[in-house]
Amino acid sequence: FAARQVTSSVFGAAQRRAFSASAASLSKVAVLGAGGGIGQPLSLLLKLNPRVTELSLFDIRGAPGVAADVGHVNTKSVVTGYEPEQNGGIAAALKGAEIVLIPAGVPRKPGMTRDDLFNTNASIVRDLSKSVAEHCPNANILIISNPVNSTVPITAEVLKKAGVYNPKRLFGVTTLDVVRASRFISQHKGTDPANENIVVIGGHSGETIVPLLSQSGYNLEGQALADYVKRVQFGGDEVVQAKGGAGSATLSMAMAGARFAESLLKAAQGEKGVIEPSFVDSPLFKDQGVTYFSSNVELGPEGVEKIHPIGEVTAHEQKLIDVCVGQLKGNIEKGVKFVAENP
Ligand code: NAI
Repeated sequence: FAARQVTSSVFGAAQRRAFSASAASLSKVAVLGAGGGIGQPLSLLLKLNPRVTELSLFDIRGAPGVAADVGHVNTKSVVTGYEPEQNGGIAAALKGAEIVLIPAGVPRKPGMTRDDLFNTNASIVRDLSKSVAEHCPNANILIISNPVNSTVPITAEVLKKAGVYNPKRLFGVTTLDVVRASRFISQHKGTDPANENIVVIGGHSGETIVPLLSQSGYNLEGQALADYVKRVQFGGDEVVQAKGGAGSATLSMAMAGARFAESLLKAAQGEKGVIEPSFVDSPLFKDQGVTYFSSNVELGPEGVEKIHPIGEVTAHEQKLIDVCVGQLKGNIEKGVKFVAENP
């Protein structure tokens, strides 16, 4: 009885109905890097999601412990932890996965840019992508590991080499930029952040992050606009500095990652009009040599269903886009070159 009471208070009736509705469609979700700062709370949030029926947690260390812990949460999904030599390793962790979230790799310390992480994280993402190509080539792959602007092209190149690249199923997770942009404008304007959904386009680092405030009907000007844009572009630094060397955003990132996974599952289960911003293989700036770009993406059962155009922008926003496009091109080329030189 006590257990039933807890279940009813954690999940409302609608969510319990959603579970029975989705029980027919089994959804295995894998997290690679599940023992880390993002991986742990992300695993918890996925465990709370009734659309997830199997949760597979992999890390080079610590995942079985996280799995045992999260596995006690009283929702139906089955949780298994994997280390390279445990429970069948990464092959078993990935087999049959519908979604693979990758937050494996090192986070920033104060004073570092995301690009400073390239040397360490590029090879981690390359190797994990090889495993995905081998064991679950049809999964939706959600790249969280930074620098996202380069790690997404790295994964794409690995998948291309393996002959299994599907541009509709590879996503760089930029959701946190939208979450921040929406929260920051609500703080500025005194509105309810739940009602804000600021469009953010470009990439996921510094000046490649471009909030399009005008599309939500806001017209900040002068210093207020400059401060807002800077806060959205460098909001991650606030967290890195406050944590004083202990890492970067983990809790808000976990929320953003779980939201993206939920949107993909909703779309896979037939819900229409599910839109999330994401850094994907995109036609929008291909003529300028930018092969991946983040904009609002409509999700469907096959992954990317429709990439929305940028829409109308102000002259100020256009200037931000120009800077973004210039930087993104270099970030993308760096990822492509890495795989060519270090296959
Ligand atoms: P963390 O260091 O706390 O955790 C990373 C985990 O990855 C560790 O448990 C580590 O053992 C694991 N790992 C390392 N190599 C691995 C491999 N080959 N296979 C499986 N697991 C492996 O770092 P945190 O804070 O969780 O950040 C992870 C990444 O996410 C960083 O690159 C960070 O920059 C990025 N990030 C991305 C954001 C975004 O908006 N896309 C926001 C915040 C962070």
